[in-house]
Amino acid sequence: MDDNRRQHPPPKRVVVCGGGIIGVCTAYFLAKKGAEVTLIERSSIAGAASGKAGAFLALHMCDDGPLSSLARASFGLHCSLAEELDGPQSYGYRPLTTLTISVGESELPSKSSILPSWVDGRVKTGEIIGTTETTAQIHPQLFTHALLAKAVTEYGVQVVTAKVEGIAVEKEGVVVKVDGGGVIGGDAVVLALGPWTSKLPELSSIVRVYGKKVHSVVLEPRDGDAITPHALFATYYPAHGMGPIDSDFFPRPTRDVYICGPSVEVETPDGSESVFPDPESVQILKSVAGIVSSYLAKNNVTVKSEEAGLMPCTDDELPVMGEIPGMKRCYVASGHGYWGILFGPASGVAMAELVLDGHATIVDLDCFSPTRFTAKKV
Ligand SMILES: Cc1cc2nc3c(=O)[nH]c(=O)nc-3n(C[C@H](O)[C@H](O)[C@H](O)COP(=O)(O)OP(=O)(O)OC[C@H]3O[C@@H](n4cnc5c(N)ncnc54)[C@H](O)[C@@H]3O)c2cc1C
Ligand SMILES: *[C@@H]1O[C@H](CO)[C@@H](O)[C@H](O)[C@H]1NC(C)=O
Repeated sequence: MDDNRRQHPPPKRVVVCGGGIIGVCTAYFLAKKGAEVTLIERSSIAGAASGKAGAFLALHMCDDGPLSSLARASFGLHCSLAEELDGPQSYGYRPLTTLTISVGESELPSKSSILPSWVDGRVKTGEIIGTTETTAQIHPQLFTHALLAKAVTEYGVQVVTAKVEGIAVEKEGVVVKVDGGGVIGGDAVVLALGPWTSKLPELSSIVRVYGKKVHSVVLEPRDGDAITPHALFATYYPAHGMGPIDSDFFPRPTRDVYICGPSVEVETPDGSESVFPDPESVQILKSVAGIVSSYLAKNNVTVKSEEAGLMPCTDDELPVMGEIPGMKRCYVASGHGYWGILFGPASGVAMAELVLDGHATIVDLDCFSPTRFTAKKV
């Protein structure tokens, strides 16, 4: 046995900080591999972006880049988890057909044969960009809760409600300091704090993860039966003034339609409870909905939610997953951007392998390592 191994036997007790999809998937796969896992969340499980996302999943939309293998592995894992956890029933897992459309007051009502009949507004067909083999959806909050429930009941994960305020590497392991002066010890720690990652004092100078705010509405049409499982990526061309606005339509099996809009970088507030939707951004989404479909027009829907969430982003648009430079056995997993729900399961497996076995086999984590930021500074 070499010196390194003698000093550091494989970790047994692992503390995971952050109860979004990345933290919960990491906790699940760590515990499934035999670790004793404590998950710390300051407010509620999947209360931030991980509960507010569209949760659209695509096999192939990250191809031709470093995210391709992560996306493909994770799409497959979502599919097998849906079988294990009764996903269609418990969290609305279902395959979708996916189309692009352009939308504008100057378009004539569409009569294209590839558009579903409820898309009867002023739209022009683009193309089919996903089939039921390559695109799917889940309800992100229900998924995260279902996975955590299994992690707790079958693999003994302990959930603690507390705000993490700092971490310290000690000779015997790692110590997580929480509000109120408490400490939680372990052999290793994984920080999955979403856009709050860089707020932790130990990380602020090492990685920059920032939040991009995205708005969403959920509309329940009076005639919900008419809405077919077709996801739409819409580009709206306003009649005058503003440039084009993108919005994504994801009809859900619960007979409602989730719609989210463009993203804008914002200052990350202290907690997820302080992320509020702007009325104008919500209004634009509702107006576009009415132009796309008469079924989604103002008088034909009940508004079920108006929300905003922060997507955790990095400057090079790649997640940051790996050991924190200069902090043995402290790991970070964040910055998953637009695709965090898709990437959750494979990121969880990769982090569990990295922490427990020393390297990930499911995907190559090298290009996601936090050392890419520290190396640049020198
Ligand atoms: C509107 C919207 C639509 C989206 N649509 C999609 C989509 O269609 N498909 C897709 O794949 N992805 C989508 N995403 C992206 C996806 O939601 C995110 O990438 C993903 O949820 C990030 O997960 P996370 O666990 O890293 O972060 P978060 O969900 O932000 O979770 C971080 C958690 O850490 C907790 N925390 C923070 N600080 C502390 C602390 N000090 N102590 C303890 N706990 C703390 C927070 O309370 C939070 O619960 C969308 C995002 C948004 C906002
Ligand atoms: C509401 O739906 C009805 C059909 O169910 C349709 O005739 C009407 O035009 C819709 N309203 C709007 C404002 O589009």
